[in-house]
Amino acid sequence: MSQNTILAMRSITKEFPGVKALDSVSLEVRTGEIHALVGENGAGKSTLMKVLSGVYPTGTYHGDIEIDNRHQQFHSIKESEQAGVAIIYQELALVKQMTICENIFLGSEIATSGIIHWDRALKATKKILEEVGLDLDPLTRIINLGVGHQQLVEIAKALSKKAKILILDEPTAALTIEETELLMAIIRKLKERGVSCIYISHRLNEVFALADRITVLRDGKTICTRETKELTQKQLIAHMVGRELNQLFPKGHRTPGEVVMHIDHWSVFDEESGDIALRDISLEIRKGEVLGIAGLVGAGRSELLLSLFGVWGKRISGEIRLQGKRLSIKNPHDAIKAGISLVTEDRKRFGLILGMDVEKNITLASLEKIAYNNVIINQNEEVKASRHYVSELAIKTPSIEQLAGNLSGGNQQKVVLSKWLMTEPKVLILDEPTRGIDIGAKSEIYTIINSLVEKGVCVVLVSSELPEILGMCDRVVVMHEGRISGELATTDATQEKIMHLATGS
Ligand SMILES: Nc1ncnc2c1ncn2[C@@H]1O[C@H](COP(=O)(O)OP(=O)(O)OP(=O)(O)O)[C@@H](O)[C@H]1O
Ligand SMILES: [Mg+2]
Repeated sequence: MSQNTILAMRSITKEFPGVKALDSVSLEVRTGEIHALVGENGAGKSTLMKVLSGVYPTGTYHGDIEIDNRHQQFHSIKESEQAGVAIIYQELALVKQMTICENIFLGSEIATSGIIHWDRALKATKKILEEVGLDLDPLTRIINLGVGHQQLVEIAKALSKKAKILILDEPTAALTIEETELLMAIIRKLKERGVSCIYISHRLNEVFALADRITVLRDGKTICTRETKELTQKQLIAHMVGRELNQLFPKGHRTPGEVVMHIDHWSVFDEESGDIALRDISLEIRKGEVLGIAGLVGAGRSELLLSLFGVWGKRISGEIRLQGKRLSIKNPHDAIKAGISLVTEDRKRFGLILGMDVEKNITLASLEKIAYNNVIINQNEEVKASRHYVSELAIKTPSIEQLAGNLSGGNQQKVVLSKWLMTEPKVLILDEPTRGIDIGAKSEIYTIINSLVEKGVCVVLVSSELPEILGMCDRVVVMHEGRISGELATTDATQEKIMHLATGS
């Protein structure tokens, strides 16, 4: 171990039934270094970090971990924390009903003889919040914070444990642009204080902006570690996917046709607060085109989709017509029957049943298609259909019997997409469909979108990634504070013009 190496993981091998998730992986991180860990969905990034943080205790993997020149064998997360490792998972893990202060000191309360010193805890929390640039009351409940602020509270929690190695597993997937910038500034500040950071992200521009060095994993193996400045984006992608990727946005052959769906004067009130959430939205969706919906977090994009799909909102006024016919959608079943499918952004909550296998998840919304007389499911058809999507979307799983919860994040997203593709909708609505998806799989998904559009399906794409909107859509509608603030043809849209409309300026 060289002098300024804080962490060395050597020959780490980890197997799950039927899957070799890590195959003799090595990783070295220097003191005060920001080290990016990149690779395709299912490459093994999260698994490697769970080994490092004791989620997978010693004995459940092979190989050697050294921190500060000392061999480490963690039996629990607690032990890895004591050695200075703090992990922020791909899925947030705060207790929503408790306050910031309670969350930060959960499991490490300041106490003497069993009595918690809340005054000291409050003071300490205030100080830590200041350090991460959060102007919040320590007594705020987590449930009242946006995802971005929750992320920063997680970091505050890690700091309170005096972490030497901070692991961030896809921290920015759900953050706004401002929150992402704040997070990056904090990571840089921690670096100056000598904290090392292992940063996992599919957003390569962030990786290039932040990381000192990059390690690439592919199929559970270490491919290389390089200084960031010695790599181009193109070279990095080639290391990740094992081939050159020429065009991320394959241009389909589009001929926008007649209007298939009309949304007229759609207004919706918030289910909880009762305030007006969507104001007088009118939209036309055409055959053979991809309509983009852009806007900042909180602009009402997801609310619009969920209200159209019959799962959100109250006192709804306005109407939806599909091929001239007025629809009354009260629940997702009505929507699916009418030919509208929605791929939600929150796959854990709405998209997947984690305790069910891949096969059942894929066929779940299309059981009529594979049932005899609408009652008994034809097992052969079910297997055939799910195998078809597993191969078409290149879902990485040992078999269709694998539980969805055991797949890597990006592969779970592909299962959700398969489920909705199988319903063969007339209108397919995609809410952030490539969040957490690696670059190779992204380009596969774009190709699938193109071929659907060529077959006459209408696609609505909601995305926070402007290059994706510009690369894939024919028209972009921009939302701001629950209204449509403008519409642009992508031929003359730019990121600046979209941002201008999105901020309402
Ligand atoms: N608990 C588990 N049981 C079975 N297989 C698992 C489990 N956890 C992970 N795997 C498998 O191990 C491999 C590596 O998964 P991992 O979650 O580490 O990937 P990742 O690089 O983090 O991907 P992503 O970018 O999609 O998050 C995958 O093939 C995954 O299906
Ligand atoms: Mg992962």
